[in-house]
Amino acid sequence: MNITVIGTGYVGLVSGICYAELGNRVICVDKDPRKIDILNAGGIPIYEPGLKELAASNREAGMLTFTTDLQDAVRQSEIIILAVGTPPLPNGEANLSYINQAAIEIAEAMNGYKIIAVKSTVPVGTNERLASLISDYTKERFDSISLPEFLREGSAIQDTLNPDRIIIGASSKSAADVMTLLHIPLTEQIVVTDIRSAEMIKYASNAFLATKISFINEIANICEKVGADVTKVAEGMGYDRRIGPSFLKAGIGYGGSCFPKDTSALIQIAGHVDYEFKLLRSVVEVNQDQRFNVIRKLETIFHHELHGKTIAVWGLSFKPNTDDVRDSPAAEIIQHLVDNGVKVKAYDPIATENFRSIYDINGVDWCLSALEAAQSADALCLLTEWEEFSRVDLGTLQKVLSSPILIDGRNVFEEEDLLGTEFVYYSVGRPSLNQGVKEQMPVLQF
Ligand code: UDX
Repeated sequence: MNITVIGTGYVGLVSGICYAELGNRVICVDKDPRKIDILNAGGIPIYEPGLKELAASNREAGMLTFTTDLQDAVRQSEIIILAVGTPPLPNGEANLSYINQAAIEIAEAMNGYKIIAVKSTVPVGTNERLASLISDYTKERFDSISLPEFLREGSAIQDTLNPDRIIIGASSKSAADVMTLLHIPLTEQIVVTDIRSAEMIKYASNAFLATKISFINEIANICEKVGADVTKVAEGMGYDRRIGPSFLKAGIGYGGSCFPKDTSALIQIAGHVDYEFKLLRSVVEVNQDQRFNVIRKLETIFHHELHGKTIAVWGLSFKPNTDDVRDSPAAEIIQHLVDNGVKVKAYDPIATENFRSIYDINGVDWCLSALEAAQSADALCLLTEWEEFSRVDLGTLQKVLSSPILIDGRNVFEEEDLLGTEFVYYSVGRPSLNQGVKEQMPVLQF
């Protein structure tokens, strides 16, 4: 099939490249000439393992092209996929100005029947509004499809080529059949439904996953107080097939470009129809508070005297294997520390540059290695579970720190890893461990 994908952000780029990999002729369009230049020079404007190689092989095979010329791309394609950003407005609602603009440009370029599919996450009812907007600008026939995307950053190719399900919300049976044919090589688990339900499936899925995370984080907080181990609790719960094991990893809360944005948007969507989504409000509140789990531990350890301390921070991205720092818990944690007179030494394997360009936090010592950040620090906080951190030699780490205090916000280390060291170790929802200095450092009650 001939497909145009509009928007070369995470979703658009990964989807476009993967549709080409399936044997379709794909044109990826973006307004930003810098992005298109990078892509045409064989580069990738985002960090995603394996994407560059997959793009290169499909370009060589002539199945994938990149352009800023939306009109030409639309004219050459039967299927147009919209994957432009819908970033949050200050009130939490999705900003639809980019998608509206793209819809008008598509309409003006249309030269015959098209299937127009929306992959961007948009509030319920948006596809119908876009359809009427497009009709205002063209006399050509078209069908609307809601095609929500569930890929995760860091495993985007795997998620796209092996999805758990494909959701197709369609305005006509014939368009649904074409989209089913396009996706059948990926999975047989294809749910065809009406457009509004498809739009809702995306929000409901992300809200449910966010709920699982906030739920286990609250269980973790209780575990800390009653002396239980949340990793064992999650394991025990997860064997129940009705619960399932995934998204029960306690930590410092979720971040990224989707969960915070989509939970706020769903609360707004409900509000517009006079429904207060109380459960989801709590999920967001719990997540916000969980970021301070690490700070609360530091304050207890240092008797609320953080001023003048040097704290090392490992991890700036919102999760490992990505340089994405949007709504990363690290930003708020570091800002809080700096505001309280702490000297922060931070390191991330790849996200430092992005972090510095997005967050304007002064007075941080940006380090080039994990050990450099830890050097002479009074405590170390691990905020992102990059694999590199789990491989650091803890004996060496202990020597470079000025006191062996490790606050593991992602439960990366196990008791066995700490054997033979003198670490005072605090994690999330697990008993604290005191390897060397039991008398001075009592088990903390937070
Ligand atoms: C998410 C959804 O998973 C995906 O389906 C959707 O399309 C986009 O949003 P992503 O934001 O890339 O994907 O990351 P994900 O792996 O889902 O993690 C989101 C956040 O939750 C991260 O900050 C992660 O650290 C946190 N998380 C995840 C937990 O704290 N515990 C868990 O058990 C799982």
